[in-house]
Amino acid sequence: MSKQPSHGRHNKLAVVIMAAGKGTRLKSRRPKVLHEIGGRPLLAHVIATASRLVAPADIFAVVGHQAERVRQTVKDTGIGFVEQAEQLGTGHAIQCARQAIAGYDSLLVLSGDVPLIRPETLELLMSVHRDEHAAMTILTALPQDPTDYGRVLRKAAGSAEVEAIVEQKSLQPGQESVREINSGIYAFQTAPLLQHLDQLTTENAHGEIYLTKMAGLLRASGERVVAVPAPDTAEVLGANTIADLVALDATLRAATARRLMAAGVTIFHPDTCVIDAEVEVEPDTIIEPFVQLRGRTKIGSECHIRSYSVIENCTLGSDVLVRQSCVLAESTVEDGARIGPFAHLRPGSEIGPEVHIGNFVETKKSKLGRGVKASHLTYLGDAVVGADTNVGAGVITCNFDGVHKHTTHIGKGVFVGSDSTLVAPVTIEDGAYIGAGSCITSPVPAGALAVARAHQVNKEGWVAKRRAKQKAQK
Ligand code: UD1
Ligand code: MG
Repeated sequence: MSKQPSHGRHNKLAVVIMAAGKGTRLKSRRPKVLHEIGGRPLLAHVIATASRLVAPADIFAVVGHQAERVRQTVKDTGIGFVEQAEQLGTGHAIQCARQAIAGYDSLLVLSGDVPLIRPETLELLMSVHRDEHAAMTILTALPQDPTDYGRVLRKAAGSAEVEAIVEQKSLQPGQESVREINSGIYAFQTAPLLQHLDQLTTENAHGEIYLTKMAGLLRASGERVVAVPAPDTAEVLGANTIADLVALDATLRAATARRLMAAGVTIFHPDTCVIDAEVEVEPDTIIEPFVQLRGRTKIGSECHIRSYSVIENCTLGSDVLVRQSCVLAESTVEDGARIGPFAHLRPGSEIGPEVHIGNFVETKKSKLGRGVKASHLTYLGDAVVGADTNVGAGVITCNFDGVHKHTTHIGKGVFVGSDSTLVAPVTIEDGAYIGAGSCITSPVPAGALAVARAHQVNKEGWVAKRRAKQKAQK
């Protein structure tokens, strides 16, 4: 767990996440670090990883482009923020964080657009940094195609030490063949970093203040700069374009599906399913092709989720069956419930154990007790329904009077006949019966039969008489 940032209090390790950039290459109005992979913003992934470090660290994000929007999105994480009003480059981002980092011995710098980095790899980086007594340790990788990344120039082949980092645009002839890339993730000793921070300037081909220049600066002043490759190249890839984002999303979702399958969840054709990174599923649950499990959804054991269902921020108990093409959002479903096909649980639905929700049934902010059945074509909005009540086909709770929403209370063991409308606010007490086609506007006492519909009139022989009349008129 990360501590609340102490803003300068002496503490060993600070993590600074650079997240102020616009992300020009995404061609998007949304700031880069708020683009999502695995259903979660890039920055939220990086913060979650930083929070899982073994040694507790204070975490700061450098924000700038649409800073308020970025802050709001991650405000619940408890991290601190540093403002970089004008985004003059990654070196400038750290210059802006000067005060925040001053009280710490060492520093871990992360990039808000490198979201797949694992805590274990950061631990490796920190331990190499300590063991090598380095002023700067660079996390690197050796991808097949290093284009567009900064290249890490080692002092000599096989040496742990680094001479400099050179950005793609500044590569000299011959340097293109260097495959080792800079991940944008570094460990620093704070003192030498602060000592040289002002030497980072815009005097380069791009007119930006580059943090990567720090490697050469420290090295030139006799400090030790080393590099360590990440065990898995995929985890240090950056998201600079939409194509990058989509590729990282695919990598993350494949890893999520593998994690769930390793824990005993059956996912048929996992490549067709959309499963967000934070989803939890218990063993012996079966997920069919083309299912979407989104947000913070939790699913118990021995459930069966059929194709084309979309479940977002829901909690399902065990032995729940969700048939084809259901949409469930912000709702809870208890053990043994049967949902769908084609059912819609809107936010605030609390579906009790062994409830049956059938086709074309919609619920919203409604609490259904154990064993309730609403099997066909029903709308239950702002309703409380007691255990073992049967809601007939086509029943509608009329919860909205055009201005306000009202509650419908239905007791236990009630039988609501088909095609009834229940005009809220209204209460139907335990064990009552509602005749089919009723429009209920007044309370129904326990055990009573309520019938509220026009009386049927049969006119004997009417059809023959009408025909005879029509014939006579011709
Ligand atoms: C950077 C590195 C490059 C490395 C690559 C790895 C530099 C100069 N280059 O390039 O060597 O291979 O990452 O992914 O650092 N940011 C700020 N303020 C700014 C500019 C950027 O906070 O003024 C943030 C961005 O929001 C982003 C991160 O810093 O999260 C990296 O910036 P980006 O522009 O993506 O750098 P790259 O070109 O990817
Ligand atoms: Mg980048």
